[in-house]
Amino acid sequence: MEESKGIVCVTGGTGFVASWLIKSLLQHGYSVNATVRTQLSGEKRDLSFLTSLPNARERLHIINADFENPDSFRAAIEGCVGVFHVAHPINFQGQESVESITQKCVEATLGILRACLDSKTVKRVVYTSSLSAVATREKLPQVLDEDVWTDVDFAAKLELGFASYTVSKTATERAALEFAEKHGMELVTVVPCWIHGPFVCPVLPGSVWSSLALFLGNEKQFKYNKITPMVHTDDVARAHIHLFEHPGAKGRYLCSSVEVKYEYLCEFLGRRYPQFQMLSPESLCDPEIPFTTISSKKLLETGFSYKYGLEEMYDEAIACCKTKGFL
Ligand SMILES: NC(=O)c1ccc[n+]([C@@H]2O[C@H](COP(=O)([O-])OP(=O)(O)OC[C@H]3O[C@@H](n4cnc5c(N)ncnc54)[C@H](OP(=O)(O)O)[C@@H]3O)[C@@H](O)[C@H]2O)c1
Repeated sequence: MEESKGIVCVTGGTGFVASWLIKSLLQHGYSVNATVRTQLSGEKRDLSFLTSLPNARERLHIINADFENPDSFRAAIEGCVGVFHVAHPINFQGQESVESITQKCVEATLGILRACLDSKTVKRVVYTSSLSAVATREKLPQVLDEDVWTDVDFAAKLELGFASYTVSKTATERAALEFAEKHGMELVTVVPCWIHGPFVCPVLPGSVWSSLALFLGNEKQFKYNKITPMVHTDDVARAHIHLFEHPGAKGRYLCSSVEVKYEYLCEFLGRRYPQFQMLSPESLCDPEIPFTTISSKKLLETGFSYKYGLEEMYDEAIACCKTKGFL
């Protein structure tokens, strides 16, 4: 293990991406202040999956913070050299209005950024955005790069849960970049596509569940899997840390390692995992879905390289699911 690199804050520590990032940051020698909602529905939460991570006893601190009270993040940010703002409400079945979720996310994020400025110690903020803030448009260019933004008017017409997520992610990323520009703050946004692979959180992450839908037998869920670009959990964490540490990193960075066509995915899964019974791909594939390439050029030009392919994503996700009793 490397020597101590200072304290960083990670928001939304209980989540799929954030908990893996915390594990990686601890491995990389950082001390971590993780914000979580320590109580949900009046119940104290079991956070042992975080507190039992390697090096957590010495270097992980858990601090209660909620978007409902943006100032609640201040204690976790004080004294930090960096902030990884990962938290975002994700509820595709939710009934909260687009405006309400968007306002809450933007206000919480601006509160977090103000706390970063006030701290005088935070050198850079890494915000976790999403391909949803890029690719939700009526017409997509053949190659998606950092200049492409979601059309929020188009996104607002989607099913409520998707509209709320897509519009709020887009508005929050834009607000964060504008705030940073205005205040001369170092901020990068990581824009991952569909994240798949291993996980340390105790719940089955939504994107892993969707990626395994062919096995899990949920036809309705499979439609969410039409997003064909994928990236491994650990590559996403590595990209966050790389962009935090890389001198001169600025602005948006798309993060997508594998682009897989349906026909290939079905053939690959059938060949590699013959033990699982699969849904019939013919009944599920939509031949109308256009195939768009996601360019990671900007990220790769900083010296980053992806470590994992489709094999590791599925093998490791399946191994985690088996260990945790989901498969
Ligand atoms: N998974 C993917 O495929 C994917 C792809 C692209 C981008 N992303 C982005 O990656 C980030 C993490 O996503 P994920 O897949 O890890 O989802 P997740 O497991 O649902 O994690 C979301 C986190 O946000 C926290 N959160 C939600 N509402 C909050 C609130 N009101 N106040 C404080 N914290 C709140 C959650 O805390 P609780 O546990 O307390 O609810 C949870 O820790 C998000 O920004 C997402 O947009 C994910």
